[in-house]
Parts: sequence; C-alpha cells; structure tokens
Amino acid sequence: MNTSEAKKTIAALTEQVNHHNELYYQKNKSEISDLEFDQLLADLIKLEEEFPQFKLPDSPTQRVGGAITKEFETVVHRYPMLSLGNTYSQKELEDFDSRVAKGLDGNPYEYFCELKFDGVSISLTYENGLLVRGVTRGDGVRGDDVTANAKTIRTLPLKVKGKNLPAQFEVRGEVYLSKKVFEQLNKDREDIGEETYANARNTGSGTLKMQDSREVSKRKLECYLYYLLGEDLGADTHEEAIKMIESWGFKVSPTYKKCKSLAEVMKYIDHWEKRRVELPLETDGVVIKVNSLQQQEQLGFTAKVPRWAIAYKYKSESVSTRLNGITYQVGRTGAITPVAELEPVLLAGTTVKRASLHNANEITRLDLRVGDHVFVEKGGEIIPKVTGVDLGKRAKKSSPVQYISHCPECKTKLVREEDQANHYCPNEKGCPPQIKGKIEHFIQRKAMNIDSLGEKTIEQLFDLGMVKSPADLYALRREDILKLEGFKELSTNNLLKGIEESKATPFESVLFAVGIRFVGKTVAEKLARYFKTMDKLVSSTYEDLLNAPEVGEKIAESVVAFFKDRSNLKEIERLRNAGLQFESSLKEPEKVSDRLEGKSFVVSGTFEHYDRDEIKDVIVANGGRVLSGVSAKLDYLVAGENMGPAKREKAEKLKVTIISEAEFQKMLGA
Ligand code: IVH
Repeated sequence: MNTSEAKKTIAALTEQVNHHNELYYQKNKSEISDLEFDQLLADLIKLEEEFPQFKLPDSPTQRVGGAITKEFETVVHRYPMLSLGNTYSQKELEDFDSRVAKGLDGNPYEYFCELKFDGVSISLTYENGLLVRGVTRGDGVRGDDVTANAKTIRTLPLKVKGKNLPAQFEVRGEVYLSKKVFEQLNKDREDIGEETYANARNTGSGTLKMQDSREVSKRKLECYLYYLLGEDLGADTHEEAIKMIESWGFKVSPTYKKCKSLAEVMKYIDHWEKRRVELPLETDGVVIKVNSLQQQEQLGFTAKVPRWAIAYKYKSESVSTRLNGITYQVGRTGAITPVAELEPVLLAGTTVKRASLHNANEITRLDLRVGDHVFVEKGGEIIPKVTGVDLGKRAKKSSPVQYISHCPECKTKLVREEDQANHYCPNEKGCPPQIKGKIEHFIQRKAMNIDSLGEKTIEQLFDLGMVKSPADLYALRREDILKLEGFKELSTNNLLKGIEESKATPFESVLFAVGIRFVGKTVAEKLARYFKTMDKLVSSTYEDLLNAPEVGEKIAESVVAFFKDRSNLKEIERLRNAGLQFESSLKEPEKVSDRLEGKSFVVSGTFEHYDRDEIKDVIVANGGRVLSGVSAKLDYLVAGENMGPAKREKAEKLKVTIISEAEFQKMLGA
C-alpha cells in the first residue's frame, strides 16, 4: 500500500471502528459481528504500526492501552474540583432549601436530582472535540494526569461531534467498575487462586491509577458524566447541559429527574433508596442541584462547597440481630469463607439470614462471639455485611470464635500461607467442592466452553460417581446421561455434542482449563505460544519456565508442582487420549531478522519509541527472548526511563549488561 492509500485507509478505518464502538457502548446496538469488528481493529492496528505518522488523535487503538506511566504528572485544575456538603436527614435538607430560597431573594427555582455514584471523580478536557486530558480530583486544586488510562474507558468518546460544540469544554463524572465487572474480576482471581478485592470503589480507583494502561483497558472501567464546564456553553440550566452532553455521546445515568419542590426531591430520594441495589453500580446517596445556571452563579460557593448543591447520603440501613453461629464454605480453590448465620431479620425489604465474614482476620477484628447481637448493614451492595457487635447485649460468659482447623467438607487440616488472609483446604483431589469446582472451571466459556453442562448437572454427575475429574466427561456414555434427572433425548444429544465439540478447543484454552494455580487465560496463552506443546511444557524445568515470557517465580513454581504430581499427569494423559488439542496453533510474531538470536532480554521502564509490549514483540521478531526477571543468565537489561533502582542494582551486581533504548536500537541496526 502506498502512503496516500494508507492515510486514507487509516482515516476510514478509524471512523468505522469509532462508529461501531459508539453504537455498541453508547447505544447498546451492533451492526456487525464481534469477529468483523475485531478484524477492522486488527487492520487498523497493523496499518498504524506501518504508518505511525497517520495515526489519528481519536484512534480507537488507544482503547486497548499501551502507554506506561511511571509517575503521573500533576495538573492544576482550570476550575477547582470541589466536594459537596452532606446531609443525612429531611430536616437538614429543609435547612439547605431555606438557604437556597433566601439566597435567591424569594425568586422561584427548581432542583435537578441525580444519584451520587460511588466511584472516583475525573475531569475530562476536550479541545476541538478531541479528548485531550483526563485528570483525577487529587486535592481539588491539582490532580494526576491519567489521560492514557481514561482513554481506555470504552464509553467515553475520544472525539465528540455535535451541534454547538464549544471549542473547549470540560466534563466531569465518576469513573467506576460496575458491580458485574467487579464480581467477574473477583471470580477470575478466585479461579486461579488469587485473593479477591474488597470493594468495587477502591478497586476502580486503584485501576485508574495503574501504570500500565493495557492492564487498565482489561479492567473495563466505565464512567457516568454529570457536570459540564466551560465558557459560553449555550445552556441556561443544568438539565440542558446534561441533555447536551448526552447528545454529544457521553454516558449519563438515566436516573436523573427535575424536581419542582422539596417534596418531589424527597420522593426521588425515597424511590432510589429502595431501588438502588438494582443499579449496575454502587451509589451512596442523591445529589440535589439548583437547576438554573444563573441561579447557581448567584448562590456561588463557600470556601469548600457549592451553595447551589448538596448531597443527601443514604444511611446504610442497619439492624441488630443474634449471631446464631458461624458456618464455613469451601470454594473451588479450597479457600474457606466464614459465613455468619443470623437470627432472620428484616433489612431494607428483605429477610436476612446470612452475611459473609470474608476471612479469619475479619472475625478477629470484630471480636465476634456466638450468641452476640451484631449489627448487619446493607449499603449499595446486595450482600449484607456484619459491621459490629452490640457490646451492651453481650452475655457475661462468652468466648471468642475459634476458627476451624479442619475442612468442614473433607476434614483435612487447613493451611494458611504467611501472606494470605484466607485459610485453605489443601485436599485438592479429594474435597468434593474443590473437585466440582475444578470441573466447573474446566467447562467454563474461557476454558473448554461446554455450555450444555451446568452446575446442577455437574453436581448430579459427581454425586452419582460418574464424573470425578474433567477427563471423566469424555468417557460419559449416552445411557449414563439418560439416567440423570431432567435429561431426555434432546438434552442428552446436546450435552454429548458439547463435549465432543470441546475437543477442538485450542491448546491455550486447554492449558487454562486444567486449572494450574496462578495460570489465568493470559499466562496460559503465553505458555502455549512459548512451549508450543503440552509435552514440552510438562518436561520443562523451573529454569525453562523462568525463561518463558512474563513467567515469574510464583507461576514457575506452581507449574512445576502441578506437573510433578502423578495424578495430574495421569489426568493429562487421559485428556490426551480423549483427543484434546495438545499443540499450539498460535503464531509467533513474524520473524524479521536473526540479529538478536540466542540473546535474552529484560525490559524495564518506559521507552520513547515503543510501548512495553511493542518492544517485547520487536525482540522476539528479531530472534531474541524476553525474560521476566533479572538473573545471572540474562544477557541484556534494556533500561527505559524511570526504571526501578532495585532492578538496576540487581543487574549491576550480577554483571548483566545494561543498555539504553538507543543502544538497543543500534543492536537492531536501526
Ligand atoms: S456534582 C460542585 N454530581 O461526589 C459539585 N458529584 O462529594 C460537583 N459525585 O467529588 C459534584 N455523583 O466525585 C456531582 N451526580 C453527581 C455525583 C457527584 C458522585 C461525587 C463527586 C464529588 C463528590 C462530592
């Protein structure tokens, strides 16, 4: 393709992909299949790599991230980001309303009510329609420039088109992880034996401040906008401004409402107090704003907060009830979760009988005793939690909860590793919930994708002794399945078909499916690409594994331990005999030269000409190998900007050659 063609094609693809993104993320519609979309995006990525000079500022390829930020630059907010005054009662709200009425000299006014989203606030600046800067709130006066991370938020337009678009404007909103995404993130972590995150808000806020925007992109942050700032915006009311940003393609929560009186505001508050658990994200109150922008200006600000707006915070409804006992659940990785068994009590419209207690530390922190009266709360989340003990009601004779020492399911002695909050049952192969969990992991969509098999069927198959490990699935016979409750001719055929079809699932998915601790989908892909066959992986040593890209000590140890176990090897053999894919069809990045043949590299820090994955691809494409950690065997450490001092020190001590980006480029003959 010549340059002028490339320029045209890049522009056309950019527009096409942006169009489909907008349809999908802002209007919940799609005109093309996922596959077609991926193809367009892949074409664009390839062309942009070849002709970087034509990459457009609103290129959708920024959505997948790439830029690494070692230290976020501090930016002074054009308009300070103030917080809001809080109220907790109707009385306090009435006081606010009186102040507003007084401040407006008795003139009529309206309110605009929105929910108070529990995320992390962000300011986004657009110039000539293009998103140029994303800044966190910081201390209100200055915040951190997180533009590269903000650009990965799919629902946020990189370029806005619309009527009467001001040359420059700022929108503010709340970045959040939806409840669904947060749950899935924790499920994925649990699935590979990582500890789970405590709550969506902190995880979302941590995500926005991650250094690697590629990781941010994977986390699927979202953003609701609720504030437009700038000069000559052409809106007279907050309502008009909100509708304007909505029409420009920003995502606004549809829960807002204009209210003509305080009574209407109270109705809004009551309505959402009951229904907020149904919303896709956590909310902790309502924000009440004077609708007219001229009146907002008239009311102005105190030193800290606007006089024209206030937050009404929902009290997390709390009740006290008796703790009848503690039971323990065993998860699929053997992690133990303690559960509070409560005297049933009505809380926010539902009867609560149980509440999660997370882990042993939480029980110690609360100093729980069976028979105590405990406070149970339900916030914006669905699962209630125990927040404290009513000490006044504690029995004279009570003793702290003794955490269990043995698995409630299989009686094996529990273990707790030094740096972990959870206790684990180590009886992986004999503990029923762990066995069922392994099978559930094996069949899930990202693994073998046998969607004709559900949790209930697995339970039956296990209870009847027909399936004790994933390999048993491939030995199931029609007459066995027909014995299951609810299985007739059609469902049986379906199940057999699903199992049969799963045999074609690619090697990297098989590798993920077999359930090696700490081997998630991405690591499985890396291993499959590097080792190419199951046999090579099985016979790899700890050192071999450390040589594989991005494999560190924790993963290497886990893989070695897995394949050392005879019963795992037997299971792998049975899967092989069943006809599963044991060879990778993943392609290596196309080889362009042998210049780096036989040389190993660790890359660290940020680079001027490459993002971190790019430089790794270049190394592999030129015959080199990328390692994850510095060791005596390493040939080169490519030192970028802001490389950590620990890595440099280690490399110097081990006499590893440290090279700069320019020296690296010289090695390539560039
Ligand atoms: S308006 C000057 N609207 O609450 C008024 N804030 O306590 C600016 N928040 O920092 C804020 N939902 O992070 C506004 N619908 C909403 C909101 C909202 C959540 C957050 C925001 C702000 C904090 C103030």
